[in-house]
Amino acid sequence: MGGDALEVIRARRSIGRLTDPAPSEEELRQILEAGAAAPDHGELKPWRFIVLRGDAKDAFGEVLVDAYVARVQAVGGEPKDGQLKKERTKLGRAPVVVVVCAVNQHSDEIPWIEQVLAAGAATQNMSLAATALGYASMWRTGPAAYDRRILQALGLGDDDAIVGFLYLGTPVEGRELPPHEPSLDGVVSEWQPPTPSA
Ligand SMILES: Cc1cc2nc3c(=O)[nH]c(=O)nc-3n(C[C@H](O)[C@H](O)[C@H](O)COP(=O)(O)O)c2cc1C
Repeated sequence: MGGDALEVIRARRSIGRLTDPAPSEEELRQILEAGAAAPDHGELKPWRFIVLRGDAKDAFGEVLVDAYVARVQAVGGEPKDGQLKKERTKLGRAPVVVVVCAVNQHSDEIPWIEQVLAAGAATQNMSLAATALGYASMWRTGPAAYDRRILQALGLGDDDAIVGFLYLGTPVEGRELPPHEPSLDGVVSEWQPPTPSA
């Protein structure tokens, strides 16, 4: 069991182009449940998982387009054709996209940053669950994740946050990546108490 988990952690790679097969209904439920099993200080459940697929995913592409246009126009710019196309089609990079949101529980005890971290841990749990089930994923953000218009379109408030768009599916042929070979160079140290000065 422990060995399997470590294998899945290394096998999880972000793949930019995903296609069918998508996780089945039951597999998607398992993936979402893995998200809801994330560490959660105070058990606030400070997360919402919003599934985008099928026609609704295409429709959300238009929401991304409108928000992009509004962002550009807000600073006196002109939308670019290439970017319009990108916004309209970007959700097409996977058959299912889960928008992972941190929903502010306005707790006196648990700081907002911990609620965002819990939603981030939920995202990673989902990514690992997808890997364990034989699918690939990619965690993306970008300007849309920080745009209030997008939060609003998802039914969330200004105090909430999008922690990621989690793309899920099967790698397009040739896009598979080998497992991680993580490096600890310059990352780990062992603290020692200062030696008392003479
Ligand atoms: C919060 C967060 C947001 C990210 N947003 C993007 C993104 O918008 N575009 C992108 O190419 N990679 C993004 N990444 C990085 C990829 O998800 C991925 O981790 C990275 O490409 C390394 O690949 P690996 O996961 O296979 O190690 C993001 C990662 C995190 C944790």
